[in-house]
Amino acid sequence: MNRKDFILKSCSACIGASTLFALFSSCATTQFANGQLTKDGILIDVKEFELKEKNKHRLYIVVRNEALLFPICVYRFSDTDYAALWMQCAHQGAELNVAGDYLQCPAHGSEYDNRGKVTNGPADRDLRTFPVTLNNNQIFIDLRKA
Ligand code: FES
Repeated sequence: MNRKDFILKSCSACIGASTLFALFSSCATTQFANGQLTKDGILIDVKEFELKEKNKHRLYIVVRNEALLFPICVYRFSDTDYAALWMQCAHQGAELNVAGDYLQCPAHGSEYDNRGKVTNGPADRDLRTFPVTLNNNQIFIDLRKA
């Protein structure tokens, strides 16, 4: 094996390993929840955000429920501040991926921040969001208003 081949194979292995690590670490950190459907919305237990380490919380959870056409990404900013984002791209309707503190569209690359504001096109409008309220350690996502 000459030097060029060695460098190419080494770099391919490094890129493959780093890609796999990113893939597994992003999967490992995503918490999915069904939520409990109500007449007007969906309820999630605040405990869904808790991590094993004391006083540590997940950045977000993804609510998937068979009654919903798309998942809802719920970001946690504080004990009382949450944002619920409809994970359907505002460009042509593809389902978004969560990438830490932002969402990205696999179709054409649009990106949105954790409040649903479009930060990168081709999408030219923000995501649909839902009002969130807290009551007795439950997060209520109001699906009536959007
Ligand atoms: S459908 Fe999302 S960027 Fe086109």
